[in-house]
Amino acid sequence: MIRIALTVTVLLHCSCGLVDIEKYLKVCRRNSVDVNDCLVDAIQDGLSVMAAGIPDINVPAVDPYHQKDLRIEYKNNQILAKFTAKDIYVEGLKSSTVHDVRFRADDDQFHLEVDLTTPRVHVRGKYRGEGRYNSLKILAYGMFNTNMTDLTYTWKIDGVPEKNQNGTFIRITDFYMRPDVGQMMSYLSNDNPESREITELGNRFTNNNWRILYREFLPFAQDNWNKIGIKVSNKIFLQVPYDQLFPVDL
Ligand SMILES: *[C@@H]1O[C@H](CO)[C@@H](O)[C@H](O)[C@H]1NC(C)=O
Ligand SMILES: *[C@@H]1O[C@H](CO)[C@@H](O)[C@H](O)[C@H]1NC(C)=O
Repeated sequence: MIRIALTVTVLLHCSCGLVDIEKYLKVCRRNSVDVNDCLVDAIQDGLSVMAAGIPDINVPAVDPYHQKDLRIEYKNNQILAKFTAKDIYVEGLKSSTVHDVRFRADDDQFHLEVDLTTPRVHVRGKYRGEGRYNSLKILAYGMFNTNMTDLTYTWKIDGVPEKNQNGTFIRITDFYMRPDVGQMMSYLSNDNPESREITELGNRFTNNNWRILYREFLPFAQDNWNKIGIKVSNKIFLQVPYDQLFPVDL
């Protein structure tokens, strides 16, 4: 009897070489009435942990977040622009505040909304830009940096349960956010003397019209965030069984 009980206990608790996530992150019970409040704290703490990453389980650092490159092509009437950024660093996520969480999950769907504010985000990197405006051609390259303040946004994260030989996991399939930004200031240095005057003008134009430009740029940014959000969250979700990440009370 005792042997059987022990075996059952071991089987129920066996993580069988899988990750013991509670070492790193606070875990919330999925059918508890205060799962949303629990997740506010869990995600708030999780941001500090995720900032440095969890090297033991190959979760990358998210603050600063390093992105190798980003390519953008933009066409609008007479304007054609190609922009390639390299070695991009995004800083500031760890000073965010989690305000509210709405969690909805059952056996065949997973949906999580997280309301956040971030006081300041700093983005920097190298760039190369080519622009054409009617017959005018511009080539510029150098460094860029942007400061955004008072960001307000909601993460909308969707996933589906997926079974494999290790158990049931949630695969995150969609990550959406559309930050409202209080203020934005950008600066592009230009190592190409031939177009330096134009980039100086461009800097002033960008800072005076950033709200319109931000709106134009959002679809590209959102596409990029969607990919990053899915990649980073699946580093956790696909390594930790659903029942360990969001246990159910029996
Ligand atoms: C199952 O877990 C083992 C050990 O952690 C791992 O090597 C393997 O890739 C996992 N299988 C899948 C399908 O994720
Ligand atoms: C952004 O903030 C940093 C640090 O305060 C500063 O060095 C940089 O010049 C700022 N960039 C812009 C474009 O204002």
